[in-house]
Amino acid sequence: MGDPRIRLSEPTLGEEEVEAVSRAVRDGHLVFGPDLPAFEAAMAEAVGATGALAVITGTAALHLGLLVAGVAPGDELWVSDLTFIASLNAATYCGARVTLVDSEPRSWNLDPNLVIEELARRANAGEAMPKAIMPVHLLGHPANLEPMLVALHEHNVAIIEDAAEALGSRWVGGALDGTVPGTVGDIGIYSFNFNKPISTGGGGMLVARDEETLARARHLGSQAKIPDTDYRHDAVGYNYRLSNIAAALGMVQMQRLPHLIERRREIAARYRDALTDLGLTGGPDEPWARRSGWLSTVRFHDGATRNAVRQALGEQGIETRPIWPPMRIQAPYAQLPVLGGDVAVGIGATVMCLPCSAHLTGAQQDEVIAIVRTVVERG
Ligand SMILES: Cc1ncc(COP(=O)(O)O)c(C=O)c1O
Repeated sequence: MGDPRIRLSEPTLGEEEVEAVSRAVRDGHLVFGPDLPAFEAAMAEAVGATGALAVITGTAALHLGLLVAGVAPGDELWVSDLTFIASLNAATYCGARVTLVDSEPRSWNLDPNLVIEELARRANAGEAMPKAIMPVHLLGHPANLEPMLVALHEHNVAIIEDAAEALGSRWVGGALDGTVPGTVGDIGIYSFNFNKPISTGGGGMLVARDEETLARARHLGSQAKIPDTDYRHDAVGYNYRLSNIAAALGMVQMQRLPHLIERRREIAARYRDALTDLGLTGGPDEPWARRSGWLSTVRFHDGATRNAVRQALGEQGIETRPIWPPMRIQAPYAQLPVLGGDVAVGIGATVMCLPCSAHLTGAQQDEVIAIVRTVVERG
């Protein structure tokens, strides 16, 4: 297939972005400049955090987040099995010993019951607890964190939330009502790569519960340079700072966020309504969550139908992708222990992501729906 006619998920950009980037260039604010602190402040406000650190990618944010949470070589870290591989890679950069946690059937995110039961079992057996847990808010649907918070706190397990996909979502009702994923744990991260709800080309953001942790992340992500010294460094740091030029783009994208999320949610609802009579379900949409609509998904009865639909859409120049296979079947992570059963495997084999850019037109979406229906009805 050449370049797709209809892309899976691309940023919605306009003249305002062109103007903001041009201004940054004209002013010579490529690396440092006023857009960077403004973007951090806007993000902190949007998610309800006290501060935020802008970095070059969501993966870099995860890496820094794990480091400042104290995850050191050999420490055990529990991570969602069903995720994009960046979550696991960041854990591996820190030398963590990962245990994968299977999905719950409804939200597709890590199953809180498995976490609670294993913590209780270890406590009874006098076994060591994990150092930290990294729940992923998959596809912009908040993970079911509330039931396990007490147990995690009781056993001193740090929480690093991978909210790379979840900007624009929140919990509804219960103790977390109105809270944004990424702000419940000790640390949360977001991604602004090319296909995320908002994009800076590449970029990420880290938020932390306490300011000292955020300051440590900022320091480590800027080569651990001691301020106001002649290039003195007090640790092995990283060059992870986001550029001002990317932040200028991010500031404009932030203003579009409510509209972009609304559109993505509408698109997801339209797919769901158009495909339910075929017995197909869309992505998770729990009553206790308001998901961001990144990405629109559909679950087929079997993998063969999913693959046939992908093929048919691809032939018409329509880009789709399967949901990620769970980490337990990825070559670098196939040996990792798994808590729970094989719910994630079933999801990984039967779910597909459909085009859902905010500027997808009704006619384009109709075309996608018609092809899905034809292949499924043909059987
Ligand atoms: C769940 C998850 N974690 C981490 C990342 C890493 O983000 P980035 O691509 O910005 O490095 C992504 C996105 O790609 C993701 O989807």
